[in-house]
Amino acid sequence: MDMTVRAATPLDAAAIRGDFPILAQTDDQERPLAFLDSAASSQKPAAVIEALDDYYRRYNANIHRGVYQLSEMATGRYEQARHLVADFIGATSARECVFVRNTTEAINLVAQTWGRRNIREGDLIVLTVMDHHSNLVPWQLLAEEKDAELAHVRVTPDGRLDLDHLDVLLRREPKLVGFPHISNSLGTLNPAEEITRRAHAAGSVVLIDGAQSVPHLPVDVRALDCDFLAFSGHKMLGPMGAGVLYGKKRLLDAMPPYMGGGSMIRKVELDHSTWADVPAKFEAGTPAVADAIGFGVAVEYLAKLGMDAVREHETKLVGDAMERLSEVPGLTIYGPTDPTQRSGVVSFTLGDIHPHDVAAILDGENVAVRAGHHCTQPLMRALGLVATTRASFYVYNTPDDVDRLVAALHKVNDIFRYQPSGVGHQP
Ligand code: ALA
Repeated sequence: MDMTVRAATPLDAAAIRGDFPILAQTDDQERPLAFLDSAASSQKPAAVIEALDDYYRRYNANIHRGVYQLSEMATGRYEQARHLVADFIGATSARECVFVRNTTEAINLVAQTWGRRNIREGDLIVLTVMDHHSNLVPWQLLAEEKDAELAHVRVTPDGRLDLDHLDVLLRREPKLVGFPHISNSLGTLNPAEEITRRAHAAGSVVLIDGAQSVPHLPVDVRALDCDFLAFSGHKMLGPMGAGVLYGKKRLLDAMPPYMGGGSMIRKVELDHSTWADVPAKFEAGTPAVADAIGFGVAVEYLAKLGMDAVREHETKLVGDAMERLSEVPGLTIYGPTDPTQRSGVVSFTLGDIHPHDVAAILDGENVAVRAGHHCTQPLMRALGLVATTRASFYVYNTPDDVDRLVAALHKVNDIFRYQPSGVGHQP
């Protein structure tokens, strides 16, 4: 085997921008859009938009039902998308990938099927203070129903998981350990392999929220050895409406269905039914066929760029951004200081200016960022924050976007410093 380590071919982000029609727009002052909110939802390349158009124009039909050509073509492309996604994350078989709407649905599926079957009164479920609400609330609902206990791995002041605290909780042999591979609020890259190894040693099943990692770095479920991985297509250049729950086949096989209806059955009697094999068992009703096909095209696009190159590009951009942002008076960045320990997300506050005001002024400069609690209220509280402004980078962002962000933040400072009422922060 050739073991030579090759450097990834650097991304040509300026050329990549040309593949994204929405980024060709300018505002009324001819300024292009600096889109820095890909952690919420990414933009879509023309290839994905065309795949949706092509489906509806040429072969729109329901799948796994018709015996006519259009239906067979739609079925073939839908299942091909499943193979593409499975290859992208290194799954042993495409059967381990269930199409769902998004990460939230994937986690709810696990809680309501695996969880309902396996969690009993008094059992412990370990999550983290860093989790998105979508990996907190489904387990709260289950814990309430089952009278189970929830515990959360603490976060260090610099926004990392406290692995000593994880070890303390693992001594109680939790049934499940769930955590984000990357924090959507802070960008922290958690040591997922290590956490999974320790959790397995304690006998726990492991669920990883991969919403912010699968789009941004090479993820291999066999190397991670996680039991479940949840992620969304819309954060990785695909359409909204298609996401994936990866699960080890023996676990998926043993789980009861989530929703009942068409497609997920083998045989239906009036008073009972038997189930189709996975993944169909978990795909009741007509799925988002076009969106899944578009997701497959997005994955092909990313694979062609190379996920090592995507990671390198973002690490460099975020490193530059952190350096430049630290020169903006009054600005505080949250999360690890080392860019290699975070993703392309930078969360910050600017003095005591409310993040919504910061984001609104940035929007006036055609710089799009997210502001708020980022669906992580417990994390914000743990860090003593109410909200942050978050800039997140992706394949189409260039150093020019960093310049635009920094210039716009100086403008925010200028506006607030000269408030006649004296309202504003001390630079
Ligand atoms: N979870 C998405 C975000 O972090 C919506 O913005």
